[in-house]
Amino acid sequence: MRVIIKNDKDAVADWAANYVAFRIKEFKPTRTKPFVLGLPTGSTPLGMYANLIKLFQAHKISFENVVTFNMDEYIGLEPSHPQSYHYFMQENFFKYIDIKPENIHILDGMTKNYMKECADFEAAMKAVGGVHLFIGGVGEDGHIAFNEPFSSLQSRTRIKTLTQSTIRANSRFFDHDLSKVPTQALTVGIGTIMDAKEVLILATGKNKAKALHHGIEEGVSHVWTVSELQRHPHGIIVCDKEATDELSPETVEYFLDIERNNF
Ligand code: GLP
Repeated sequence: MRVIIKNDKDAVADWAANYVAFRIKEFKPTRTKPFVLGLPTGSTPLGMYANLIKLFQAHKISFENVVTFNMDEYIGLEPSHPQSYHYFMQENFFKYIDIKPENIHILDGMTKNYMKECADFEAAMKAVGGVHLFIGGVGEDGHIAFNEPFSSLQSRTRIKTLTQSTIRANSRFFDHDLSKVPTQALTVGIGTIMDAKEVLILATGKNKAKALHHGIEEGVSHVWTVSELQRHPHGIIVCDKEATDELSPETVEYFLDIERNNF
């Protein structure tokens, strides 16, 4: 696993956007050979999306031949609900770039048939040849997408019940009213994410420090699902200094040293 440590969240956003742009350009996507991106929501990736929009506006990157799959969606929120992940993606990214609507895939949290919705999502990923780069954030309890503690590390796209910790953390988007936060979501599985050719996890702030400690320095465990990244051949965590607060000084020094000349 690579761990890229940046000074602050702006530097993380900058690095992540440039890395995504670099990967897309290097791939030279075409209509018949699109680049496939897995995308997260949450507050952490907002800066990355803002920077990608700037790169697009400066004609440095195009999303015309990019296909996207979002990680997750709440159950019971209409796409027009301001806290739905459909709405988030539209408002924070898609409406500013040249992505084709038919290339966007987001799970339908209003479906009546969860099993079919999830199976169709996995099939659509397979049909385009899999995800090249899956980007994610991480929850305070180490979850990626909505793969809460004790999720199977081989899980696929499915319905999950959210933990109180996640409901509490996400209530800030719902007027701090726990009762307004959906209690279930559709989410890609850990196995789905790990099938991607490359996985990039973004983590900023002190509240992610424990998750990074468990994800990087402890063993692979379903308790901290982000730790499965240790077994991915091309896993990267890009984080700010605050998020490394619970890593040992030796670990921090090691990664600062080994990554000092790398993109
Ligand atoms: C939610 C999302 C995750 C996200 C996590 C952290 O639970 N399902 O995909 O990584 O929140 O969000 P934030 O970046 O706002 O801390």
